[in-house]
Amino acid sequence: MSASVHKPLLATVLGNRQERPPIWIMRQAGRYLPEYREVRARSKGFLDLCYTPDLAVEVSLQPLRRFDLDAAILFSDILVIPDALGQSVRFEVGEGPVLDAVTAETLGILRPERVLEHLAPVLETLRRLRAALEPQKTLIGFCGSPWTVATYMIGGKGSPDQAAARLFALRHPEAFATLIDILVAASIDYLAAQFEAGADVVQLFESWALNLDEVAFASHVIGPNRRIVEGVRARVPNAPIIGFPRGAAGNIAAYVKATGVNAVGLDYATPLKFASEHVPAGLTVQGNLDPLRLVAGGAQMESRAREIIAAFADRPHIFNLGHGIVPETPIEHVARLVDLVKGKSS
Ligand code: CP3
Repeated sequence: MSASVHKPLLATVLGNRQERPPIWIMRQAGRYLPEYREVRARSKGFLDLCYTPDLAVEVSLQPLRRFDLDAAILFSDILVIPDALGQSVRFEVGEGPVLDAVTAETLGILRPERVLEHLAPVLETLRRLRAALEPQKTLIGFCGSPWTVATYMIGGKGSPDQAAARLFALRHPEAFATLIDILVAASIDYLAAQFEAGADVVQLFESWALNLDEVAFASHVIGPNRRIVEGVRARVPNAPIIGFPRGAAGNIAAYVKATGVNAVGLDYATPLKFASEHVPAGLTVQGNLDPLRLVAGGAQMESRAREIIAAFADRPHIFNLGHGIVPETPIEHVARLVDLVKGKSS
């Protein structure tokens, strides 16, 4: 892992525009790949897969064997933090995550002191990935941002409007602040440890930044993300950080300015012109193809991908989807997209 090797994706996060945008794909290791489904079927459960470095390294590398992607992302999940805190987390087939919801009264069961010990296998996965990865590839670590993780901890499952967590924050502001503080501290420890284990960059997944009014956005999203960026950089100076505030919409400029992230992930609903005007000039953007365009493939996908590349030709840009790849995605479409972004014609 020689520091002198040029890593185009890392360089782009740090603000250096590349001639062609580097590319990775959110949720690039996953069920659209038969080789992932094969490893997953052999594992005892989804969390076991996350905590078994041999298997987690294998599935992290699978997408890079098929496609010329510029980065590997650690295989894990945002919900390993609640699991590490001692909340019961299960992944039911066809149902998504199910947690024993925390209440204002039961917050005391959370055990912040055991987080890093519990997550030691994930850090081991990163160390092995670092060693296995070609030197020009960027290694991405991640965690869920506190608000997004809290929506699962409070709601007990995913929901379209996060109503349980939004109400909890309004009815129990002190308990909510305590929960966010626990998550901020755990995320700082976890991300600093990820850098020590070999991550080049980390991404903060704020997948549920939508549905918040501007007051809640400032308090639940901007504040905690800013504290994490500052806390991580106090331990890892200049740590490169991508923020992905999905649904930030008109709050995007405030998010970027206040958090100090190096790069901002744009969801696919963000108009390209709006992003160009509201994300400060020179700041790195990431995104933002609709994952369903990748499912459908063909001319519509290609013309939209070209529009995105053209829109960000004047600043550092990392090509990505505007949310995670979905299991129905045909592998040939991914290969075609990567070739297009890399300038290889078919
Ligand atoms: O390839 C990668 O990007 C790395 C691994 C990764 C996973 N989850 C693996 C996973 C990453 C970065 C995540 C992030 C994640 N997890 C987010 C943020 C990104 C986003 O999509 O908004 C969220 C909200 C979660 C929580 C989560 N994990 C849900 C809601 C689900 C169920 C729905 C689904 O997509 O299956 C998961 C499970 C999960 N996480 C799977 C994978 C590959 C599928 C589980 C399986 O294989 O059975």
